[in-house]
Amino acid sequence: MSLGQTHLEAIAAKHGVDLNDCQPASRSERLAQLKQLLADRQVPHPIPTDVADHYYNLAASGQPFGVGSLSEENVDLGEYANFQHYEQYSLEEHLSWACLVSDQQKTKLRYACREYLAGEQMFEIGGSVIPDYYLLNARIFQQTGWQLSTVNKIIPAELFFTCHSRRFFPVTTFMRPQEQDYLEEPDIGHDVAGHVATFTIPAVAHVMRNHGLARDLIYSERDDMSRAATSDDQRQAIARWADELLLYAGRIYWFTVEFGLVMQDGQIRDFGAGILSSPGETRYSIDSIESNRILIDPSCDKDLLRLATTDYLISEYQKTYFVMKSFEQLESLTPERIIQAAKTAQHLPHFTWREIVPGDEVLNVGHIAVGPNEKYFRLMANLPLDACLTRAAIRNLRIITRHPAKLREFAGAFQVAPPEVPPQIVEWFRAADARHEFPQDILPLNME
Ligand SMILES: [Fe+2]
Repeated sequence: MSLGQTHLEAIAAKHGVDLNDCQPASRSERLAQLKQLLADRQVPHPIPTDVADHYYNLAASGQPFGVGSLSEENVDLGEYANFQHYEQYSLEEHLSWACLVSDQQKTKLRYACREYLAGEQMFEIGGSVIPDYYLLNARIFQQTGWQLSTVNKIIPAELFFTCHSRRFFPVTTFMRPQEQDYLEEPDIGHDVAGHVATFTIPAVAHVMRNHGLARDLIYSERDDMSRAATSDDQRQAIARWADELLLYAGRIYWFTVEFGLVMQDGQIRDFGAGILSSPGETRYSIDSIESNRILIDPSCDKDLLRLATTDYLISEYQKTYFVMKSFEQLESLTPERIIQAAKTAQHLPHFTWREIVPGDEVLNVGHIAVGPNEKYFRLMANLPLDACLTRAAIRNLRIITRHPAKLREFAGAFQVAPPEVPPQIVEWFRAADARHEFPQDILPLNME
């Protein structure tokens, strides 16, 4: 149902937006901009004339923006492939974008790292209309060598990171409803107003690409092991092993590219796209006394492991943020280090998003902070705090009760070993788990 003009004007006024500015340029004006843009050779990645001509002709013929039109590389998005039909965006959708950008403006000057603000200027994503992906894609390619791949919804982690290994960034074509600050699913606001500006931060682009390359290595190892397997059961276990590794590698991505903070001139600043696409979380991530903020050095293996072993939920603002000591330290995240952290994490107990753990360099202990053993007490007393604590407690107690030798083998990997779980909890869990009182699908599944 579309909102009436008066209602739209009221929303616009509330966010400091002029509704008249939410009318996009005509198709012919955008094509003229595109022609001029494609001819620009004074950029890090100029587009060859024949490729630019083909790209322009695609746009001029009225076809929607396609994937991989600017390089030899491509990616098969399968059922997730989608297109931006720019002319079909309503005034309401452009207004939703404009309100988000306007609200962001009020927070990011105070909270965003300086590189983000520079990147945003470069890609001209601060206007009052949804960006035209033909123009945006060409700008991103020219400046960074990355391209957009349009998708219809959140995509599986394996496909997401496959895109990254080929320098494609998946973007949706859907704009959030009016006045929605936080979304679990990505939308144009998250993908474009959040992520795109961060492509210009070399350390962030490096982490993104190397997560893609880590995925390639993990799945190539999976395929080799699968070929040597002698039964379907073995092959299924190998597939779960690889998916589990990608899950833990993805946490490093989550706590940096999506929800990372960085020290800059002695101040904490946001660079994570998940934070910056939500004006509310932009303020919260730095000012809130509710959340934990922990300083880390991602060039240190033990700090990287802290990220890979920390579970989280996506349903609300984060409870713990990790603050990088500098962007430069992120340059140390090679695919091999990401995989190593994920493989080590497979054998260790995990922390939850509310925990402060021994060895943490804590900047802020949030109101929500709990110690590492809180989750076990709550599980035993049937006092769940949230799904993250419950699943981490079950997972960890399964490792403690079923794989104590592995636990001893890897215990030295942590900065400081977590405190012992009280023996009465371990014994209670052993008996309860034997009665199948807990879900069977909670990891780890592959430690035998
Ligand atoms: Fe994201």
